[in-house]
Amino acid sequence: MIGMSTPPTMPRTASRSRQLVAASERTTLDPFREIDWSVPIDDSAFHLPPELLSLFGTAQWDAMSETERIEYSRHETAALCGAGIWFENVLMQVVLRHLGEIPVTDPSHRYLLVEVADECRHSMMFGEYIRRAGVPAYRPTLPSNLLSEGDGPSHRAVSYLLILAVEELLDHTNRATMRDDRVHPISRSIARIHVLEEARHVSFAKTYLAEMLPTLSDDDRRLVADAAPALVAVVADLSVDPTVFEHLGIAGGYEAARANPHHQAAVVAGLSKLTTFLTEIGVIDDEHRSAWQALAA
Ligand SMILES: [Fe+2]
Ligand SMILES: [Fe+2]
Repeated sequence: MIGMSTPPTMPRTASRSRQLVAASERTTLDPFREIDWSVPIDDSAFHLPPELLSLFGTAQWDAMSETERIEYSRHETAALCGAGIWFENVLMQVVLRHLGEIPVTDPSHRYLLVEVADECRHSMMFGEYIRRAGVPAYRPTLPSNLLSEGDGPSHRAVSYLLILAVEELLDHTNRATMRDDRVHPISRSIARIHVLEEARHVSFAKTYLAEMLPTLSDDDRRLVADAAPALVAVVADLSVDPTVFEHLGIAGGYEAARANPHHQAAVVAGLSKLTTFLTEIGVIDDEHRSAWQALAA
């Protein structure tokens, strides 16, 4: 179709956007002021809570010394930062395309620009961790135009659903990290900044999805429900980067991490808020429940 379709009016998304702009005005954190980057990113402490590391509890983990476990935690944290940068790039492309259709008079126009600005700072922050952690420039091998192909309402709904999935997964890890006094202070500060600002992104994505899904045709809603579990599995898989194990010479590490029931349980726990929400809004129904349960396997 040539020309612009008028997006449906979304009063709840509009009023939530006003609230989120006000909250962002009250608290927006600059990672280059908030974090003391003069503290070396060294192996004086774990960089993630050990229980959240993908190898935790495997034979490979048991065979490592404490020093090796901490070094591995620094690499896995950097890989998670690399996955964060990759995903924020994908997400910004989705949001910028969406912004092209939203009238500037709609309050979500301003809020989504705030969200893009947040993600720019987060990616700079994740990048600074990687640059200072003495690790390779870890990043996923998936193309960053993953969600850029195609427009239309069902594509947009799936995109925001994936944004929400990654935000909830990272939130789960970040909340545990910021509270854990065994964890390196830089890692905890990064987690704290991310939790605070992502809570607003989660709030927007949920409000928007809950309001826009009922405006879709039955066919479009079915497309969303059919596509979601497999795509969420793709982004959840980004939590384990095979090159970490290659770089550290941990034989069979990637396979062990993927098969690790501890790690699978952590992913399921990280997705639990998402699956509760998707059940409430009808994306997970009786017909699709088994596909979501398979994510845990
Ligand atoms: Fe972010
Ligand atoms: Fe975000």
